Amino acid sequence: MTETPAEKDAVVSMPPVAATEWKAPDINLLGNDSVAALIRYGKDLITNTARYLGPRGSVAAITNGMNCQNCHIEAGIKPYGNCFSAVASIYPVFRPRSGIKESVEFRVNDCLQRSLNEKKAIEKKTLKNKAEGKQTWGKKPK
Ligand code: HEC
Repeated sequence: MTETPAEKDAVVSMPPVAATEWKAPDINLLGNDSVAALIRYGKDLITNTARYLGPRGSVAAITNGMNCQNCHIEAGIKPYGNCFSAVASIYPVFRPRSGIKESVEFRVNDCLQRSLNEKKAIEKKTLKNKAEGKQTWGKKPK
């Protein structure tokens, strides 16, 4: 889709939000279906990224040993903790750094490459889908 000039120049600026305004859904209230399993795995990936992708990762040894949670506090659910509260509602979004409208997949890749020093592209689509499942969970259908 082509962007209008105004969209292309738009810079994301989020209004300040009180810490009490957003609360992630309680993961303990999930059932046992396949979506719930995906969300639990997504949380595990964000919390224990190095276990899967670190220097001795069980899936691949492609990152520097950091966990997403080192920067996205409490697996990205803590307000003001670099949380994922807005992700489901704002993506795809234009970012000046890349100069393109980024998808969530692109943004996750960006953190993998820039923050976790990911070495090479592997078949990590499934892992990313799981991480994204968690980030979109709780979003009300439009
Ligand atoms: C070294 C710190 C660091 C690590 C580790 C890290 N991130 Fe990030 N991440 C950031 C920063 C900083 C931002 C940008 C925050 C902003 O723009 O306000 C960000 C932004 C994001 C965003 C976009 C959030 C938004 O609201 O636009 C996503 C999604 C994301 N990270 C996912 C991940 C995932 C998944 C991992 C693990 C694979 C990860 N990050 C690891 C620092 C990190």
